[in-house]
Amino acid sequence: MSAGSIGDAPVRPIAILGGTGPAGMGLALRWARAGESVIIGSRDAQRAQLAAVAIEQKAGTPVRVRGMENSAACGAADILMLTVPFEAQASLLKQLRPAMTAGSILIDATVPLAAGVGGRASRTLGVWQGSAAQQAAELVPEEVSVVAAFHNVSAELLFADAALDCDVIVCSDDPDASQLTRELAAKIPGVRAVDGGKLENARIVEQITALLIGMNIRHKGHAGIRITGLPPGAYR
Ligand SMILES: NC(=O)c1ccc[n+]([C@@H]2O[C@H](COP(=O)([O-])OP(=O)(O)OC[C@H]3O[C@@H](n4cnc5c(N)ncnc54)[C@H](OP(=O)(O)O)[C@@H]3O)[C@@H](O)[C@H]2O)c1
Repeated sequence: MSAGSIGDAPVRPIAILGGTGPAGMGLALRWARAGESVIIGSRDAQRAQLAAVAIEQKAGTPVRVRGMENSAACGAADILMLTVPFEAQASLLKQLRPAMTAGSILIDATVPLAAGVGGRASRTLGVWQGSAAQQAAELVPEEVSVVAAFHNVSAELLFADAALDCDVIVCSDDPDASQLTRELAAKIPGVRAVDGGKLENARIVEQITALLIGMNIRHKGHAGIRITGLPPGAYR
């Protein structure tokens, strides 16, 4: 399966829910530059449209990017990327659930940072289900596959021009959804995608982000991770 497009068929749009923040804008820019059709979602349609204009301007070349209110974005795509703070994740998914179509893929980048409840950004919160991604899986319709990915990528580096230098660990219980997500990750220059196994492994990947944030604070940088020692076929 080719991410976003199949043969000569029209490109499948990617809806980035909560896409007006740094993580969503960074992914939108990179995927738009890679030729994907991107819909920025927001609680406010006008904010989404302004974000889409900002992506067009930053891209510097013609790109396919639109802005919509989150529910409309959800209904217009079957590849859904969720980039909201942990404290907004459950309520937004409950609200969007009726707009999700069967067979959709929800890629979740949520990190349950303690900062959401007044704690440190370098610490995480316990999530009853084990991870934010597993919480998401409980909240979406059964026919929607959840994938955990992009937790360890700097939004600031994404919303820039240089190639990145990091890997994206992708976890899901749906092998096809995992593969599609790895293909999308590999469209970002300098990013390799690695199959991280089942969705339950998201609990480890989400924790790594807190560690990286601590390193960023300590060293004033934009840390990412590389997985080494696997055969070449393990990297996408
Ligand atoms: N920033 C990074 O470098 C990075 C890297 C990897 C993963 N992540 C994770 O990705 C997610 C997004 O990160 P971010 O830094 O882009 O977050 P953010 O700027 O705090 O929020 C992203 C967007 O979420 C929407 N939002 C905020 N509160 C909401 C609420 N109560 N209900 C519904 N929507 C709400 C807002 O969009 P509207 O106001 O337009 O609706 C906002 O622009 C987080 O879970 C973060 O942990 C971030």
